Amino acid sequence: MFEYLVPRAPDAIIALMQQCKADTNPDKIDLGVGVYKDEAGGTTILRAVKAAEKQLWETETTKSYVGIRGNDDFRHSMLHLILGGDAGKIEDDLLDRIASAQAAGGSGALRLGAELIKSAAPDATVWVSTPTWANHIPLISSAGLKMGKYPYYNRETLGVDFDDMLAHLDAKAKAGDVVLLHGCCHNPTGADLSPAQWDQLADFMLAKDLTPYVDLAYFGLGRGMIEDSYGLRKVIDICPEVIIAASCSKNFALYKERVGLIAVVCKDTDTAAIARSQLGSIQRKIISMPPDHGAKLVADILGDADLRKMWVEELTEMRERMRDLRKQLSDALNVQGGETMAAAVIDQNGMFSTLPLSVDQARKLRAEYSIYMTDSGRINIAGANSENIPRLAEAILAVL
Ligand SMILES: Cc1ncc(COP(=O)(O)O)c(C=O)c1O
Repeated sequence: MFEYLVPRAPDAIIALMQQCKADTNPDKIDLGVGVYKDEAGGTTILRAVKAAEKQLWETETTKSYVGIRGNDDFRHSMLHLILGGDAGKIEDDLLDRIASAQAAGGSGALRLGAELIKSAAPDATVWVSTPTWANHIPLISSAGLKMGKYPYYNRETLGVDFDDMLAHLDAKAKAGDVVLLHGCCHNPTGADLSPAQWDQLADFMLAKDLTPYVDLAYFGLGRGMIEDSYGLRKVIDICPEVIIAASCSKNFALYKERVGLIAVVCKDTDTAAIARSQLGSIQRKIISMPPDHGAKLVADILGDADLRKMWVEELTEMRERMRDLRKQLSDALNVQGGETMAAAVIDQNGMFSTLPLSVDQARKLRAEYSIYMTDSGRINIAGANSENIPRLAEAILAVL
């Protein structure tokens, strides 16, 4: 039967990674893949994770299955973390309205959420921003859902086209549709909604009977934990139903452990009980039981005051390094012709910015300067360092 298969085009990011790996130039700059790197170019294990792993190795007594919705401590501590705001804790009546499940990374969470939407509202369209993370459409449409696109990033101003976004959704989205929103650190643009825009969007979604589906893959890596969850907490305050897909890949640097959380805020506790049973049954049909190790580490870190403090310091270190690199790149680009980029790079959040480069310009940077970014001009700022930023800015300005 396999002779009937047709080959698929290689994933663009993976092809870019391979091209960069094969480049022997010692001064190459890898801004491609969406993984945090430190000043030495490493993606190391966090100290808090190492300490939690040591503790776990000493105390763990079984490798028996975790339940179908995963580790309760993980799910609850994550919900308090991402939704708790200043208090760091959510009220019981909100917790009772939430159905959640541990997932295989943010991607697994997005897929569980898509399957749940398909079960509840098979005719709903899921709207995604233009552009969005390259895997959003394949992951969500594979559940059999229709997808639509709304305008988001303006490649000239390098900011969000908020009025166009609302006008488009107003004209095209129907009641009961779902709108996928990046909670913070928009991938691939780094351009986030302001708190005032989140306020307006939440009211708009309520009035239009649209359900927010918030992808929170970079919580804590933008402006800070309170700031990065503002939009999510706002839509939960205003809209009766919200879907959340959170990832611990980046903020806990647990990429290969595959740790994520799907959570749905329901109108009432009875509906939440039904949604819990649905999430469990969907998980059972796809992978039966989620992987335990990484989620247990997150639960242990968040549940222990010393480990939590250590993690918050490391998260802060990663975030501040990226903010500092943004400042350096912005300063270096702030010459004639680079002013818009300079302003955008400092204003944007998280790992990514999308520069106003054509495909040819991005390829020229690769061929002539060994600077690797996607054809769309997306850079991962964490792939740069203080030493190579001047060279990076010079090359960008040279190809423009
Ligand atoms: C916007 C966005 N959502 C979700 C994910 C999924 O992350 P993971 O499945 O690695 O946890 C990513 C990863 O790059 C992402 O950028």
